[in-house]
Amino acid sequence: MAKVVRTNTGAKEQAAQPVLSEAEVARRVEALLGRMSLEEKIGQLTQLGGASFMPKPNLEDVIRKGGAGSILWLNDTKQFNALQKIAVEESPSKTPLLFALDVIHGYRTIFPVPLAMASSWDPSVAERAQAVAAKEARAAGLHWTFGPMLDIARDARWGRIVEGAGEDPCLGAAMAAAQVRGFQGPFLGAPDHIVACAKHFAGYGAADGGRDYDPVYLPEGRLRNVYFPPFEAAVKAGVGTFMSAYMDLNDVPASGNRFLLSDVLRGEWGFKGFVVSDAFAVGNLVTQGFARDGGDAAFRALSAGVNMDMASNTYPQHLAGLVEDGTLKLADIDAAVRPILAIKVRMGLFEQPYIDESKLAQVVALPENQKEARLAAQRSMVLLKNEGRLLPLAKSLRKVAVIGPLADSKEATEGSWMVFGHTPAAVTVVEGIRAKLPGAKVEYAPGPAIRRDITWLFGDVMSEAKPVQTPEQAEAAFQTAVATARNADVIVMVLGENADMAGEAASRASFDMPGGQEELLKAVVALGKPVVLVLLNGRPLSIGWATENVPAILEAWEPGSEGGHAVADILFGDVNPGGKLPVTFPRKASHAPLYYARNLTHSPESSPMYRSRYWDGPTTPLYPFGFGLSYTTFSITNLKVAAPQVKVGSSVAVTADVTNTGLVVGDEVVQLYIHQKAGSDSRPMRELKGFERLTLKPGETKTVTFPLGPAELGYWSTNAGKWVQEAETFDIWVGADSLATLHADLEVIL
Ligand code: NOJ
Repeated sequence: MAKVVRTNTGAKEQAAQPVLSEAEVARRVEALLGRMSLEEKIGQLTQLGGASFMPKPNLEDVIRKGGAGSILWLNDTKQFNALQKIAVEESPSKTPLLFALDVIHGYRTIFPVPLAMASSWDPSVAERAQAVAAKEARAAGLHWTFGPMLDIARDARWGRIVEGAGEDPCLGAAMAAAQVRGFQGPFLGAPDHIVACAKHFAGYGAADGGRDYDPVYLPEGRLRNVYFPPFEAAVKAGVGTFMSAYMDLNDVPASGNRFLLSDVLRGEWGFKGFVVSDAFAVGNLVTQGFARDGGDAAFRALSAGVNMDMASNTYPQHLAGLVEDGTLKLADIDAAVRPILAIKVRMGLFEQPYIDESKLAQVVALPENQKEARLAAQRSMVLLKNEGRLLPLAKSLRKVAVIGPLADSKEATEGSWMVFGHTPAAVTVVEGIRAKLPGAKVEYAPGPAIRRDITWLFGDVMSEAKPVQTPEQAEAAFQTAVATARNADVIVMVLGENADMAGEAASRASFDMPGGQEELLKAVVALGKPVVLVLLNGRPLSIGWATENVPAILEAWEPGSEGGHAVADILFGDVNPGGKLPVTFPRKASHAPLYYARNLTHSPESSPMYRSRYWDGPTTPLYPFGFGLSYTTFSITNLKVAAPQVKVGSSVAVTADVTNTGLVVGDEVVQLYIHQKAGSDSRPMRELKGFERLTLKPGETKTVTFPLGPAELGYWSTNAGKWVQEAETFDIWVGADSLATLHADLEVIL
């Protein structure tokens, strides 16, 4: 529906603006509403589940009656067209359906998991990835994805940390906006794009004890300063939909939470799209001990601001009755339906409800998709250690052993959220290394298999069955792995977590590498050969022993379908790693939550009186937020604040020079941190307020500039009960991670 314009070169280009004006969309929505019965309107508020584990009424019958506005968890282009035909030809108002699926980090071409993409500190990586994902998904007939996931996560026990951008609101907001732009394109309804959904609003990542779905208690200041910014950034980027979270936030379930969904989202941020509940969340308001019964749940969700009921069937069962008995007004239903219809109008579904069934094959075959996925994986990896410059390895190596249960696992390489299974085309680390060294002998041994102790809720749909080994089989696999390693000149260990060990319903109480992998690592290191550890994982792990004893460690996360190639590119020096950690690595799970933006205490870490907070070991992180190495070295110098004082409401520029002081081209992520020294509230000892990833040739220097103004210097004050920017002094640091030491002062004056 975009305007096609002719450029002066004569080429056809899509206009960056939608064809339909706001007024035209509104006019069409009102016309549609005028033709709909109450039942059909409630149908628009109903999303039906297509997955085997969801209550599944006869979809055709319901759609024929106008009883569904959207279907989730179907993935069959033919079926999309068949169901759409019923909707647009047989349902009373002929309103097309929105087909929705979790396209989280790729549809057919799989990109690194979102936590990995955040490690690139390069929002354009996430934007381009989601644009490819959108193009493939749209070609398959999907209109809507349940992403990006924008939950700040500071406790890595929570398995869903893998789906987000990590612990920091500034990095999180940048990744949020980039993903929305990637999915949706220049405007809602842009060709080859899909509607995005900012989820899970809000606070889900702060579950008590890191236990998925458990209640969350967050004071308003922390919500507004830390947990809301990525969501507000998504609204500013024009996100079409929001998803309300499952859990209780301060004793009010997020899916019945008027403060979140009405006061903040629509009232303060001016969100004009629609809110879908998380799956079954409307019905579960009863389970959570909030609503009395289904009718009460429907009433409380709708009146809090949930437009669409995902899969719980509570709206279709109860809303009509609530209107009939006067609990709800017809105007309430109309108000909930309007933004859903508006998105269908903007998406052009009334003009073009069907999808060309041959299109997906053409789009998926595009070689540039694989290229983007490989580039994203390369840019997402973080070099944690490289003692004695063991890396990069020489391509002249003749005998390499690749050891570990994840080394040839397509599942662990692609990572979580493969709703309809893993793609056979995914390249594992073993395959990537073999492709890189065609003349070498690359031997592989998995060692003992690893599996979850308690099986996974989504095991049947999203992951492969894991072998169960007897102790004897595990021991034999262990010995074979050590023997294979013994024969090699260099050993690449590929260890970490399987894809089903992080994600939804995948929290854990330990950050140890599961299944005795550290024992295998110790036995291999004891051989006295050069060992490189490649981690495939969806959360920080306790790698204290490896940090002490393994010379080179590459954090590859769950790098996607081109992941094995990207690992080999880095190990053998075709690519210089430049990613940085988007999360603090604690030494062990019992230290969680551990994050860099903590408040100072009466006994700060810098004081001579400081002792570790625990008497049984250090409390400092194993690797700090923002950390990552390169095959070259950098120096960051010449920090300047354009003026020593800045007025409240004005901006000042902070600059620093970054120089590549090594011998190869490389990337540095320059990071700006601030600390307000006194004020209405105590403020975190450091907060990230700007970053830039730069590529520098050996000897080259570039100057980075960061603006500091009210958006960076203000905060929501608990004491004042509002947003403030205060005339106080600030510490400013610029550097290569959250421990940066290059410092300046800034005074904010009235
Ligand atoms: C539940 C998850 O919490 C949510 O992230 C997802 O989008 C829905 N299920 C639909 O799959």
